[in-house]
Amino acid sequence: MGNLTVIMTDVEGKVHRIGNLDEGRNLMETAKANGVAGIYGDCGGGCACATCHVYVDEQWWAKVGEPDDIEGAMLDMVADVQRPNSRLGCQIRMRPELDGLSVTVAPSSAA
Ligand code: FES
Repeated sequence: MGNLTVIMTDVEGKVHRIGNLDEGRNLMETAKANGVAGIYGDCGGGCACATCHVYVDEQWWAKVGEPDDIEGAMLDMVADVQRPNSRLGCQIRMRPELDGLSVTVAPSSAA
């Protein structure tokens, strides 16, 4: 059992403080295992569905970093709800620098 924590606000506005995470655990898996509403992970983490879309809280953006080109292309598929701080949860893996990370689940795309 790890010692990392993430704080996720789900689509209903409920705040989930999820601790004891191992390094390498991704946010999509973490959300699904902890009943965070609005994260589906339909493609299983393959960066091919964008149903794990989150907004990274501003103060964490620099540490989390920009999406790569493949993830960016997938985020373009949900452009109606995309923001400058959008990332796909399955592509964010917990690491010590991200301990305490805070994200908000994005609403589903209408596209
Ligand atoms: S789970 Fe499909 S893109 Fe993240």
